[in-house]
Amino acid sequence: MKLLIKNGVIVTKKGEIKADLLIDGKNIAKIAPNIEENCKTIDASGKHVLAGFIDMHVHLREPGFEGKEDIESGSKASVAGGFTQVCCMPNTNPVCDNAVVATYIKHRADEVNLCKVHPIGSITKGEQGESLSDIGKMKSAGIVAISDDGKSVENSQIMRLAMEYANDFGLKCLCHCEDSALADGGVVNEGYNSTVTGLKGILRASEDIMIARDIALSESLNIPVHICHVSTYSGVEIIKSAKARGVKVTAETCPHYFVLTDDIITTYDTNTKVNPPVREEKDKKAIIQGLKDGTLDCIVTDHAPHSLKDKQVEYNLAAFGISGIETSFALSYTYLVKTGVLSLSQLSEKMSLSPAKVLGLEGGKLEEGEVADITIVDLNDKYVIDSKKFLSKGKNTPFNGYEVYGKVCYTIVDGTIKYKA
Ligand code: DOR
Ligand code: ZN
Ligand code: ZN
Repeated sequence: MKLLIKNGVIVTKKGEIKADLLIDGKNIAKIAPNIEENCKTIDASGKHVLAGFIDMHVHLREPGFEGKEDIESGSKASVAGGFTQVCCMPNTNPVCDNAVVATYIKHRADEVNLCKVHPIGSITKGEQGESLSDIGKMKSAGIVAISDDGKSVENSQIMRLAMEYANDFGLKCLCHCEDSALADGGVVNEGYNSTVTGLKGILRASEDIMIARDIALSESLNIPVHICHVSTYSGVEIIKSAKARGVKVTAETCPHYFVLTDDIITTYDTNTKVNPPVREEKDKKAIIQGLKDGTLDCIVTDHAPHSLKDKQVEYNLAAFGISGIETSFALSYTYLVKTGVLSLSQLSEKMSLSPAKVLGLEGGKLEEGEVADITIVDLNDKYVIDSKKFLSKGKNTPFNGYEVYGKVCYTIVDGTIKYKA
């Protein structure tokens, strides 16, 4: 089957070119002006054609928490957000700490057949931080990384062994950085606003200590490591200086850390509760600068859907997390590209090529011969975010009512249209 995308602006690493793009089967056959082909055609006039977005950090909740999300609803939400590939964290029930759960996730994703879903295995059994999961068997079952996301592996010796063992299988550790003793049940950033609201704060140090620890392990062992959802200015500094020394560290952040500050918690809206917490202006500025200067390689969503009953409780009791997969591109485009921080091509790299490189996935490139994972967007389409329209079961967003630019029009996976607005 052939599919022709005509008259769009093709966004590549080198920049933007006005051209047509012909897909043959699962691959990009040709990128050139004025391609004529008698096949199904998408008119992309006035639209931009990008490498399909890759979210290396989502929570799809299946198995175990299907009331919050499942692989079907999560996949529908993903393609609606322009994502052709997502990597799902293992904090399900049961935890993805063995090949059976990893295989199950891949089977369900194949049945749903929308975006590519790559399971991430846990580092430790049950994410209990005590003994290593079946990392080798999970690798054979198709995991693309390991993580105990939701918490850190507190014991540094276990973390060391995990990094060495995973590295032998060509897998990276994705590190949720949090010293839980120091976080001590906090729910928001510790600072002026935690004092004003009376909500218990979490120090930046809780995150920074673990970023520094995991980088120290990476440096000592000469094994690559990836830092999840960076939220602090000081964390950005630690990563930047490590990179300058040649440490093999990569890092991600999320739209809520470059769009919001903790001023929003003064509403006590539990949709603002996320871990790590949204921090202060100087953190937001450093995150934006870190994206610009390359300290932060990837933009992920940490899509963490929760049900209403998990959020419609007092702030201290509410679940941590933001449903982010359907707002990521528009927020990133509006707050990073329209403001002149990144070019569209650089944003595309953060949302596609860099995650592909970090995990060794296909995709991320619009070039002849590459896989036809493609997202077509209309950058002029201005709209107001409305969680009622989310395809995700998780309506938990702090961005309701935000006016954004950038609508996903088509999501194409392996040459097949999986979403059309
Ligand atoms: O806010 C968060 N939600 N942070 C995490 O680390 C876990 C996630 C979840 O699973 O809900
Ligand atoms: Zn996390
Ligand atoms: Zn997460």
